[in-house]
Amino acid sequence: MNTIDLLNLKNWFSGYCKRFYPAAREDRKNIALKEFHTRKVAANMVLIAGAELQNRNKVLMAEAIGLLHDIGRFPQYAQYRTFRDNISVNHGRLGAEVLETEKPLSGLPLSEQELIIDAVRFHNAFSIPGELDPEKVFFLKMIRDADKLDIWRFFSEYYEKDEVERESAAGLDLPDTPEYSEEVLACLFGKKSAAYSDLKTLNDFKLMQLTWVYDLNFPASFSLASNQGCIDKVISSLPERKEISQAVSALRQYIGNMASK
Ligand SMILES: [Fe+2]
Repeated sequence: MNTIDLLNLKNWFSGYCKRFYPAAREDRKNIALKEFHTRKVAANMVLIAGAELQNRNKVLMAEAIGLLHDIGRFPQYAQYRTFRDNISVNHGRLGAEVLETEKPLSGLPLSEQELIIDAVRFHNAFSIPGELDPEKVFFLKMIRDADKLDIWRFFSEYYEKDEVERESAAGLDLPDTPEYSEEVLACLFGKKSAAYSDLKTLNDFKLMQLTWVYDLNFPASFSLASNQGCIDKVISSLPERKEISQAVSALRQYIGNMASK
């Protein structure tokens, strides 16, 4: 991967997105949010890779993965009008299929093509598949971190919006009521990811998003999580309860410790 390869991919990506810009305002808003998310994730990849890697070509690879990781979102939305994989299609797998069919990576060595396609395929998997080689796992961990960082950015803004302003395809249709579930809070205390199937309210969704901190992989990701301020905004959108603030202070301490490693 060199700078020309990356430039070509950026051009291909822009052209591909354009094909999916629909006429209706609400649909355009949903597609635009994914295009913007993609650009932010690519920028996060450059920041994490820049801190973790000396090899410039690998930093370009990281940026390319960021650029392509959600390519499946565009055909997913075109066909199903939702970003919810559980009621439509797995957008990571669909993204890998898009890259295999459209072949924007065909000028790259086969090993680089496979690395990018597998990073796209598994970026949203519940956990990292065991059979991948170490280099694939390294970049897969990086895209999963970069993606989470921007999901926190997106939702920290989303929670501040009135319900009518919120992008319709982004939420999970969970009730925005003061309740939260003990099971999801227990996951946050237990430092483990909560499952989508446990969520009953929007507060559960916020708590689940906080559990993702315990899945971050790189010191640079923890620094970004702390410096970008989005986790703080998600936290401040939660109800003020003693048990939540206890779980949150353990979380903040964990971020601080991991960022300084
Ligand atoms: Fe994704």
